[in-house]
Amino acid sequence: MGSIGIDGDTRVFVLTGAGVSAESGIPTFRGSDGLWENHPVERVASLGGFVDDPARVWRFYSERRAAARAVLPNEGHRALARLEASLGERFLLATQNIDGLHGVAGNRRVVEMHGSLWKTRCSRCDRPAFDDDAVYGDGSLPACGRCDARGEFALLRPHIVWFGEALAPKDLEAIENFFDEARGHRFVFVAAGTSGAVFPAAQLVERARFRGAETWLVNLEAPDNVSSFQHVLLGKSGELLPSLFASA
Ligand code: OAD
Repeated sequence: MGSIGIDGDTRVFVLTGAGVSAESGIPTFRGSDGLWENHPVERVASLGGFVDDPARVWRFYSERRAAARAVLPNEGHRALARLEASLGERFLLATQNIDGLHGVAGNRRVVEMHGSLWKTRCSRCDRPAFDDDAVYGDGSLPACGRCDARGEFALLRPHIVWFGEALAPKDLEAIENFFDEARGHRFVFVAAGTSGAVFPAAQLVERARFRGAETWLVNLEAPDNVSSFQHVLLGKSGELLPSLFASA
């Protein structure tokens, strides 16, 4: 199989999706039937779904928290942590995963584009998201203490980018800044474990190509946007990523 030679001029941007956590035991989105307790995922991962039934949404994310807490990073996550340790600021990882496993593996230069399962924020006021691993499985609902102190009532919500919501501008900016800096150097773009079905993540490969990036894909099967990649490695990321960066 191919491997990416890394030298002192190389910048590496990695985009990961649910496939990278599959070997840790977290199911992917489009590989399953897309339902949770017979509800379409959009019903529990949208603001409309939260307004309709916040207890149902918190039960869904509480289950995700409990499941993610029980798993460990795999060899794919660990390979990316080693790559960051060797490249430092010449590396950036953007993940669509909310499970936090890249951080557990040791990556620090991570943009969590779709938010984090391990953070909560108010659904109404602008208090910053805070660390939270609580499980609300019994129908109890967390309220915002800051709103409460003002005599108002507001529910807390998971710090997740739901269907129909925009990504945080600071996250898109961090990615754009890295792309701009990488232009003029040897710029390598790697997507791993993602179906290329959700925007704007799916179009990052084209944005990187526009800036002269060499593009690599590591995925179990050919995704929708496979033709955007110059190098395609089909297989499991936990098996392919460790040897992809052999010289780093
Ligand atoms: P998907 O479930 O759409 O795609 C996962 C991809 O990983 C598929 O193309 C699989 O072939 C591949 N795959 C499965 N196991 C693999 C393995 N062991 N190694 C390598 N590849 C493997 O997941 P995402 O592309 O991450 O958004 O989905 C993007 C977004 O859609 C998610 O972040 C989520 C969802 O709506 C939000 O929740 C906002």
